[in-house]
Amino acid sequence: MDTRIALLDGKHIVLGVTGGIAAFKSADLASRLVQAGALVDVVMTGAATEFVRPLTFQALTHRPVALEMFSLLQETDIGHVSLGQRADLMLIAPATANTIAKLAHGLADNMLTTTALACRSPLLLAPAMESGMWGNPVTTANMEILRSRGVCTVGPESGRLASGGHGYGRMSEPAVILDAARWVLGRNGRLAGAAVIVTAGGTREAFDPVRFVGNRSSGKMGFALAAAARDRGAAVTLIHGPAALEPPYGIMAIAVESCADMERAVLDSIGDADALVMAAAVADYRPEIAASQKIKKRDDRLTLSLVRTSDILSAVAEQRGAGRRLKAVIGFAAETRDVLDNAREKLTRKKLDLIVANDVSAADSGFEVDTNRVTLIDASGGMQTLPLMSKTAAAEQIIDRLVAILER
Ligand code: CTP
Repeated sequence: MDTRIALLDGKHIVLGVTGGIAAFKSADLASRLVQAGALVDVVMTGAATEFVRPLTFQALTHRPVALEMFSLLQETDIGHVSLGQRADLMLIAPATANTIAKLAHGLADNMLTTTALACRSPLLLAPAMESGMWGNPVTTANMEILRSRGVCTVGPESGRLASGGHGYGRMSEPAVILDAARWVLGRNGRLAGAAVIVTAGGTREAFDPVRFVGNRSSGKMGFALAAAARDRGAAVTLIHGPAALEPPYGIMAIAVESCADMERAVLDSIGDADALVMAAAVADYRPEIAASQKIKKRDDRLTLSLVRTSDILSAVAEQRGAGRRLKAVIGFAAETRDVLDNAREKLTRKKLDLIVANDVSAADSGFEVDTNRVTLIDASGGMQTLPLMSKTAAAEQIIDRLVAILER
């Protein structure tokens, strides 16, 4: 499966690795960046090489690793100036307190700090250190200096530290750092300045305090759409039902449970939105009565009476019109038969600009799997069938269509 991410594909990323135990996680980060299509040049400090061998990074990136500043060969091939000049992003993970202090004060005493000083691209730091070092006022002051100059940071997180203690200082996980890199790179993209609401996952409709009527939606498609909109610079609000996924970095996530909760959250934020992408699998029916106590097992048969929930897209359609900021609404049609006819009918009934139709009865598309096979139908009848692809790739294509709708 194609693992490339449009925003990272072909981008030059300088990955600086400093000497902390979290350096081993940077090998995973380097691998993820390469899989996303980035050209990754690793620069290591001497201390970093005590934790991870340069060969590890060289094998993962298929590119030479820069170590010593005054190696003549390296200066010509991958010198600090040329590395810094061609970088789209410099990312330092882990960034130790020592390197942070050097960066804050413009010191350039090794290949990594020299490259950072010469670099004209955005700089993203993933600090990692003992909680005492992180909490030290000198580190706080150094971080403030760097942030005031536009340096971006991700983490550190709170959790178990290498010392055995607990506290702030753990480097963020590679997946989160990669996501933060996407946020930094995409900030000025074609959706910069646009507010986009994405809904994701299924809703749960309770019939007693411990049970609910739900559906098989995993939220994967909606979370990927939120990330793709974020990658193009949008301010994203992700309104999601229960899902076993971490919300993408750099977006506002609102967790909801029922259709009524989701409708409230959507209508509360729609006034300031430019676009709504309604990927959630919203329940069409809810139990008429939700018992306040757990229903006990008494009879052989239990009958649930279900009543219609309100249709969120229809409620949004009623609000669309003159003076409203909302310019684009995209809906989904998860069908098991007559996929295109049903999707066209929903496009018209729900006054959508685009509908994403998919056949959820196929094993490789729809609920819970990582791939999808979708057809996009627009309001003027145009139809585009995409081949089987990852949900990430499908999300990129759908958000590119959203860009086109907003720019027309
Ligand atoms: N949707 C909604 N509110 C609901 C149900 C669905 O806004 N109560 C949205 C979904 O998020 C999706 C679109 O409407 O974007 C189509 O959802 P779908 O369940 O396929 O269509 P329904 O209108 O519910 O029709 P049916 O279930 O009969 O196919």
